[in-house]
Amino acid sequence: MTRLGTPLSPTAVRVMLLGSGELGKEVAIELQRLGCEVIACDRYADAPAMQVAHRSHVLAMTDAAALRAVVEAERPHLIVPEIEAIATDELARIEADGLATVIPTARAAQLTMNREGIRRLAAEDLGLPTSPYAFASTQAELAAGAAAVGFPCFVKPVMSSSGKGQSYVELPDQIAAAWRYALEGGRVEQPRVIVEGCIAFDFEITQLTVRSLKAGQVTTSFCAPIGHRQVKGDYVESWQPQAMTPAALVRSREIAAAVTDSLGGLGIFGVELFVRGDEVWFSEVSPRPHDTGLVTLVTQHQSEFVLHARAILGLPTDVTLREPGASAVIYGGMEARGIAFDGVAEALSVPGADLRLFGKPESFERRRMGVALARAADTDTARARATEAAGKVKPVIPPL
Ligand SMILES: Nc1ncnc2c1ncn2[C@@H]1O[C@H](COP(=O)(O)OP(=O)(O)OP(=O)(O)O)[C@@H](O)[C@H]1O
Ligand SMILES: [Mg+2]
Repeated sequence: MTRLGTPLSPTAVRVMLLGSGELGKEVAIELQRLGCEVIACDRYADAPAMQVAHRSHVLAMTDAAALRAVVEAERPHLIVPEIEAIATDELARIEADGLATVIPTARAAQLTMNREGIRRLAAEDLGLPTSPYAFASTQAELAAGAAAVGFPCFVKPVMSSSGKGQSYVELPDQIAAAWRYALEGGRVEQPRVIVEGCIAFDFEITQLTVRSLKAGQVTTSFCAPIGHRQVKGDYVESWQPQAMTPAALVRSREIAAAVTDSLGGLGIFGVELFVRGDEVWFSEVSPRPHDTGLVTLVTQHQSEFVLHARAILGLPTDVTLREPGASAVIYGGMEARGIAFDGVAEALSVPGADLRLFGKPESFERRRMGVALARAADTDTARARATEAAGKVKPVIPPL
């Protein structure tokens, strides 16, 4: 698709976002800049991307019939998943029926929504290095699996994200609690978990990998590696570039190329890798922009959102790093609707700082409401600046 059109007219290129959070919002803005017609969907009204879209729909995207109905009503050219919890089997039928192109492919959405699908593909089909792992559908199977992979280990529901239902287990007597916690945090009725041996990494990275068309050929390009710090399975801070050995960088890109070649299609992928010295392990992959990649809003000529928008439209991309930078998450810190933010001027007075406030209608204690960004000559300075700027933004109870 290299011809673009006029929104709200018969020539419009219609793009439907499934998931309308902060990452979708930035993708929607980039699509708007190219004159696409943007239709934003999510489970709740006034989600961030809905606020910058032409139209929006509130629906349970895990409901196959509801998903089919909105696609038939809107007839998008492209369907762009922003989250994992989608009726991906229906996406596969929509793709097979020729109703729309699913980004990057319906199969990629199916494989990556379930840790079992992507882990078996990476480790068993592609032979990539991963943590030792086992799957379990009962507490007894989990106990056996944990004994096999060894302690300490991680227990995760196969369908969950952002650390939900995830436990770090040091001893066998913690297995029962990890099993119960996984059942609460998983998305499905049928309990199933993965237990993974712990990789003692030096650091972890997101290798953003773009599949885009250049002179009619699908080409794979790699952004500079993004380092990040996770707390309870949720990212709190990221920076780019992450320094690493030349051998580890080559290995990271080999792994990222293998996984993204196998998933196929066009768009950006966030390949999560663990690194120790020259050694690299595959952890997981998102076939879409990655939360840790918010840093690219200040570090790259084309952010991960520009790259995604361009790639899915069949346009050329440029992954060049412009300068080092960092991002630091701003949490709601409270349960309230329509919160306000103080300290924005102070945050933006930090040298090289920038800010995104996502506009989420409701704040929760650990909900990501915004992100501070900072540029600097090196990543240590950028991290300090981003953290300082984030700390100056104070969510406050709505004044009455
Ligand atoms: N096998 C492992 N060895 C060492 N650390 C791990 C392992 N598995 C997970 N972690 C740590 O926990 C974090 C979250 O794990 P993972 O990415 O699998 O969960 P997630 O719920 O999909 O998180 P997100 O959706 O935020 O990416 C990882 O980024 C890493 O810091
Ligand atoms: Mg992850």
